[in-house]
Amino acid sequence: MYYPQYISGYEKVKIITTTPTTTMETAPLTKGIIIFGATGDLCKKKLIPALYKLWEKNLLPEGFTITGASRRDPGTKAWKESLGDYPKEFMHLLNYISCDLDNQESLKKLSAAEDTTYFLSVPPERYENAIISLKETGLLEDPERSRVVIEKPFGYDLQSANTLQSTIARHLREKQVYRIDHYLGKDTVNNILATRFGNILLEPLWNREYIEEVQIFATETIGCEGRSQYYEGAGVVRDMLQNHMLQVLALIAMEAPCRMNATEIRREKTKVLSATRLGDKLVTGQYEGYRDEQGVGSESMTQTFVAGDLYIDNWRWKGVPFHFMTGKKMPYQCVEVIIKLKAPPLSLFDGETNDRIVIRLQPHAHLDIQIDVKSPGLSDSVELATLTHRYPDWLGVDGYEKLLYDAINDDQSHFVHSEEVIESWRIVDDLLCTGDKCPIRTAPYVYHEGLWGPVHKTEMITKWDYPS
Ligand code: BG6
Repeated sequence: MYYPQYISGYEKVKIITTTPTTTMETAPLTKGIIIFGATGDLCKKKLIPALYKLWEKNLLPEGFTITGASRRDPGTKAWKESLGDYPKEFMHLLNYISCDLDNQESLKKLSAAEDTTYFLSVPPERYENAIISLKETGLLEDPERSRVVIEKPFGYDLQSANTLQSTIARHLREKQVYRIDHYLGKDTVNNILATRFGNILLEPLWNREYIEEVQIFATETIGCEGRSQYYEGAGVVRDMLQNHMLQVLALIAMEAPCRMNATEIRREKTKVLSATRLGDKLVTGQYEGYRDEQGVGSESMTQTFVAGDLYIDNWRWKGVPFHFMTGKKMPYQCVEVIIKLKAPPLSLFDGETNDRIVIRLQPHAHLDIQIDVKSPGLSDSVELATLTHRYPDWLGVDGYEKLLYDAINDDQSHFVHSEEVIESWRIVDDLLCTGDKCPIRTAPYVYHEGLWGPVHKTEMITKWDYPS
């Protein structure tokens, strides 16, 4: 019989399994993580610090091992030193093996623990071969006791995502594949579900009868910050819209899952994504100066900004525009969702404005309900009042801490299912203009740093409630 490996989210426990005749104590199954690409930035800056925090909180299973692997051979000592200062008790869990994912002979050097998580911190173009090699070497043979974690992007467009997925499906079971979208590791993003489905207050309003429009912003003040080589091949649609923004949209628009588990949550997200399509008010932009950045061609058409509309063709949302805006070098760094409600059927007061529910995911996360109240004094006019809850995000954990904890505990709730990935690529595929038809102007409009994109065009999409 399968027993969950932890209870109440935070307490790691030994599990007592009982059979009619015997009682025995078993330790949690997960025994180790092997990180490929261990000499890279992600490992040093995110993965090891997250594993350290889990260790500090006593949340790693007993006897857990952390193995760094990569083609280079700095040796265990030098690798550990390169990671920074950690207590020696934690360092004892770590070791390093030089091996090559493309070379099955060298993979045989890995002595995988009886239940192992493989983290592929390698360039996405290596995922297919990596998975084939790991499978053929026998390291992924047992679907109950081995899993692979991969980072976005999963594919480059709809066609390549389908190809990657068919390779994965030939070699692994879906339950072995943990696709990271780091937004799903954020407390505030997961709070969308808690706020929507832990209460009854919002649900009656949450539909086409009462909602006029939804606006989703994910704006950044930074530019490409030395990542232009990657960004040139990606652009904003692949970098932000296909994954982070559509995941936020899915959480805002999905139906309540019948249980809070990976199967049900991901089933509902997939359903809403499969009903989602692009509208026709699409504007792309490129910030001024992008072409002067190192590694960017002087004629680059890479988009650093996109805004537009999405529609969800189902009973709940038919006809409600979901306007979105995401880009770099914008006036404000912010991820925010604004639910704009319809006006009351009769306008009785001077100064009425539509009610709004504002969900600020970062920074300084908060939930605002904006409603009209009577202005004090003799007049009957109304003014806007804001009821605010500030989410204590300073108490939250880093996204990677949450995601690694879930992965080693076999919980896929906060990872993206293959069908969500494919639906997301289908939604944005037209914007990528890789096929025959291209519904948008291929040359992005140039915008100045610190503006909300090419404003003369974006303001024709809707009346934006710009975050501040
Ligand atoms: C990453 C993108 O996935 O998300 C980056 O590649 C972007 O371009 C980042 O800056 C935004 O993440 P966050 O957590 O800062 O909102």
